[in-house]
Amino acid sequence: MKITEVAKKLETTPRTIRFYEEKGLISPEKASNGYRMYTNEDVRGLRTILALREVGLSMAEIKKAMTENDDFTDYLHTQRSLLYEEMLQIRDMVTTVDRMIEKSGETGEEEHMMDMARELKGLKEKRTIWRDRWNFDDQAKDYDNNIKTTGYHFNVHKDYDEALKKLHAWVDASHGERGVDIGAGTGNLTGLFLRQGIPMIAVDQSKEMLKVCTEKHPQTQTRLGHFLSLPLHDKAADFVVSSYALHHLTDEDKELALAEIDRVIGNSGRVVIADLMFKDASNREDVLRTYQESGNEEAVEAIKDEYYADRSRLIRWWENHGYDVKAYQFNPILHLLYAQKKERRASNE
Ligand SMILES: C[S@@+](CC[C@H](N)C(=O)[O-])C[C@H]1O[C@@H](n2cnc3c(N)ncnc32)[C@H](O)[C@@H]1O
Repeated sequence: MKITEVAKKLETTPRTIRFYEEKGLISPEKASNGYRMYTNEDVRGLRTILALREVGLSMAEIKKAMTENDDFTDYLHTQRSLLYEEMLQIRDMVTTVDRMIEKSGETGEEEHMMDMARELKGLKEKRTIWRDRWNFDDQAKDYDNNIKTTGYHFNVHKDYDEALKKLHAWVDASHGERGVDIGAGTGNLTGLFLRQGIPMIAVDQSKEMLKVCTEKHPQTQTRLGHFLSLPLHDKAADFVVSSYALHHLTDEDKELALAEIDRVIGNSGRVVIADLMFKDASNREDVLRTYQESGNEEAVEAIKDEYYADRSRLIRWWENHGYDVKAYQFNPILHLLYAQKKERRASNE
């Protein structure tokens, strides 16, 4: 096929096709008369390139995927998570513009605008800067075995199975509902719902964890993404669950994560979280002191390396945002929290 025919077939221009050739994305044979001749395979390649460009993949990414024969799906997962991040940032900007317009004409207008701009900048940084300093990709393969390991002085996974089972029971999901598991890891919690016939989306910031999750539960949808920019539409789920994941965020970031979850469950959902936490700041001090006094340095170091939640802060956030909350404690560091939007309860009564 000649370039003009290919361009017509793909609804593009010969110039665009030549551009991709110059960039080394395709290399059609040249006939003896000097014309480029495109095979069906070249056309398929071009079709892929055009589609991927349309959803925003860079030339460099496409070239890397094509030359290294990578699976495009991997790139699409990353792209989806970046697009959600951008979408949420644009929303934050629109909300700020609305607030600026509302305040315009008031005395001290410039100062208010500057405050709002500062707030917006902070939010943008939070949404994009979270980094995995625990390297969960490296932990993925051994994770399920490691959580069974006992014999250490401090076992963060004590009561793990019981916590997941109780969480699952507290959600009390009905058929027809859809759930999301955030920080799903290898999908142990997701699996409890899938076995019950409830469709689940497993969200995690670690590609390798999601790979293991897919191997174990091929029927689940996975999404690469993180708590502060959930790769999900508004009201995408009836309930959100999470186990042993939220404590990788600072207390301040946890509140943004709760706001993100709130966006995803809309006006009628529920959230159930099993995680490492303390009742409040003074309970944290007491528990740490007990470990220190018994010489359990392993426990003290482990607690200080992560951000075990202040349970009272999470509960306060939910109560201020129209939720009813209940809590259960398994051991000094493991708690279960259930938060339900009041609208849901009202509509069920
Ligand atoms: C200790 S594992 C828990 C996995 C699983 N929920 C379980 O109960 O076995 C923590 C998981 O949370 C994920 N995670 C940590 N911080 C996250 C974040 N900010 N956003 C999304 N996932 C996160 C990690 O990648 C990891 O898979």
